Amino acid sequence: MSTGTGTALEVVGLAKSFTSDQGTVQAVRRVDMSARPGELVTLIGPSGCGKSTVFNVVAGLEQPSAGEVRIGGSVVADRLGASAYMPQRDALLPWRRVIDNVTLPLVLAGSSPAAARRQVEPLLRRFGLGDFARAWPWQLSGGMRHRAAFLRTVAAEPGLALLDEPFGALDGITRADLQQWLSAVRAELGTTVGLVTHDVAEAVFLSDVVVVLTARPAEVAAVLEVDLPRPREAEDRERASFGDLERRLRHLLREASWASVGPGAAERPPD
Ligand SMILES: Nc1ncnc2c1ncn2[C@@H]1O[C@H](COP(=O)(O)OP(=O)(O)O)[C@@H](O)[C@H]1O
Ligand SMILES: [Mg+2]
Repeated sequence: MSTGTGTALEVVGLAKSFTSDQGTVQAVRRVDMSARPGELVTLIGPSGCGKSTVFNVVAGLEQPSAGEVRIGGSVVADRLGASAYMPQRDALLPWRRVIDNVTLPLVLAGSSPAAARRQVEPLLRRFGLGDFARAWPWQLSGGMRHRAAFLRTVAAEPGLALLDEPFGALDGITRADLQQWLSAVRAELGTTVGLVTHDVAEAVFLSDVVVVLTARPAEVAAVLEVDLPRPREAEDRERASFGDLERRLRHLLREASWASVGPGAAERPPD
């Protein structure tokens, strides 16, 4: 694990409510999380508990109702652009070729299209897209589209990348391949990653730290350190230590989901 000193991301006492004419919804009650440089930290929790909301705040798309976000050690007033965000429903723009999709953030940040292409081209092969720079998004497989979306996310060499359920819609084999690939490419690039998933095996395989959230409004129910050595290979999933961590995480997740159901605890099924 190539971790540095200091923190790349610190979320402290984050709360977020949404108010509309329908009333107020508290999405996040209190979330703390941090990642050192080069670490991968995962948020896991029941559907609708507030995971994407936490990332929307970290990315600067929403402002916190309470609490603080520090990126690279300081509170950034305008966080838009301080991290690279791959939102849950990420889509390549169908009217732009692959190369023009992945260079878009660089161009928006002021690079010329030619300079952006020169910067990204060496990475295309590493991302398994070497022969597809000029292809249209519809010509790519599901796995390739995800790799292109991830390349677009990291092309600008962000200190911090936020990936919200990046592999959610893929079949199991493609998913496992992409997890392996992400693990390796992230180590090479040294990118700090915040990940949202609801997949226990994915969390264990990829993470250094997993933060388990309760049902909405999200609070931190538990923090699990994943002390498996790196690099991690597909075979490592068969190890007893991997299975133990999966079981512990599944248990923590079950506890966390029930914790916030409150007085209905009597209805809780036996473990
Ligand atoms: N912009 C918004 N306005 C109102 N409610 C929102 C908004 N964004 C999220 N919510 C609500 O906050 C809760 C948490 O949503 P979300 O963060 O998307 O959950 P998760 O990603 O864990 O599935 C949900 O009840 C959702 O309806
Ligand atoms: Mg979500």
